[in-house]
Amino acid sequence: MEAFHERHDGDRSDSASLIADGAEFLADRPAILRTIAAPGGEDAQQLRMSANLLRRRAVGDAVHLRGLIEFSNHCRNNCCYCGLRRDNRRLARYRMTPAEIVSAAERGAALGYRTVVLQSGEDPAFTGPMLAEIIREIKRLGLVVTLSVGEREPREYELWRSAGAERYLMRHETADPELYGRLHPGQTLAKRIALLKVLKQLDYQVGTGFMVGLPGQTPETLLADIDLARELAAEMVGIGPFIPHPATPLADSPGGIVDQTCLMVALARLALPYALIPATTALGSIDPQGRELALESGANVMMPNLTPRLHRADYQIYPNKICLNEEADHCRGCITGRILGLGRIVADDPGHHPLWLERNQALGQA
Ligand code: 5AD
Ligand code: SF4
Ligand code: FES
Repeated sequence: MEAFHERHDGDRSDSASLIADGAEFLADRPAILRTIAAPGGEDAQQLRMSANLLRRRAVGDAVHLRGLIEFSNHCRNNCCYCGLRRDNRRLARYRMTPAEIVSAAERGAALGYRTVVLQSGEDPAFTGPMLAEIIREIKRLGLVVTLSVGEREPREYELWRSAGAERYLMRHETADPELYGRLHPGQTLAKRIALLKVLKQLDYQVGTGFMVGLPGQTPETLLADIDLARELAAEMVGIGPFIPHPATPLADSPGGIVDQTCLMVALARLALPYALIPATTALGSIDPQGRELALESGANVMMPNLTPRLHRADYQIYPNKICLNEEADHCRGCITGRILGLGRIVADDPGHHPLWLERNQALGQA
């Protein structure tokens, strides 16, 4: 455990005491629940500042960039909040070709990104072997590959891991099993958790996460979201506001708010001091300063868009998504400016989770 601190620019506090410090903030659960219910108050501000300080001690000032390639907006699922749901007939559907996906990754590499995230709806047209071949080609570019393609067969996860993918993002969305069932027709939270555990066993760096402000969500379920991320020992935790999409059953529900979302980012940092936590695009879409506020509440990752402009507008999980008309190099510059503006720096290493890196270096595999 000692060694990885040498590589960080935070101070050298021993990791056990750092983890204990984070846990102490979360120990008084009734107080945390009250704070989640009043996210604009003084206590919430305090927790966000504490999370920002713990982030600095644990992982330093570097912000890791991940280039996002949204390669297919076809989806077999019908999540009640999402614009890509299969019942949304108003959406023009697209699939990038493998060559287009690899060339988007090349562009990412040229822009200096060390990681690309391959994301899509749940689209079985991309078979296990097809995706494995795409992963192998992108690995030849020297990039880290993160997958975000939803629920698939464990042997497909295994195939992609052997093809070289290092990380997998699949949010649990909400830790309340009943709410999960209502929002995801035909799906269960139990299955989602079981698959996240499979991904862990395959030694992916696993990202989970949730939306804030879903109809029916309570402070208790939001705290359960943090508990679940910690129980899973998630390497990454993605937290964004729910944004109502007009072509979904939740069109008329109120959306999540910035303060509550940033507070949940802070709680995730306190629960998992070494995690990779993005300042999400959804936060940037509901507030021009949303991502900066998250970076000052514990976040240390940003995910600029690398999807070719032709397809961007059709990857509308939620409305009013930012950067629909910006070229990838513009976003690269914009994001760098925002990071430097906060007195932070852009990471130049691949940005693996320190514990995963240590395990894999011990195995001679990273
Ligand atoms: N608002 C905010 N986030 C959404 N997602 C899907 N639909 C919405 C929405 N309407 C999130 C889900 C999913 C991720 C890719 O996008 O959490 O996991
Ligand atoms: Fe499909 Fe993901 Fe949208 Fe659900 S959230 S409909 S799985 S793209
Ligand atoms: Fe795309 Fe700022 S990140 S324009």
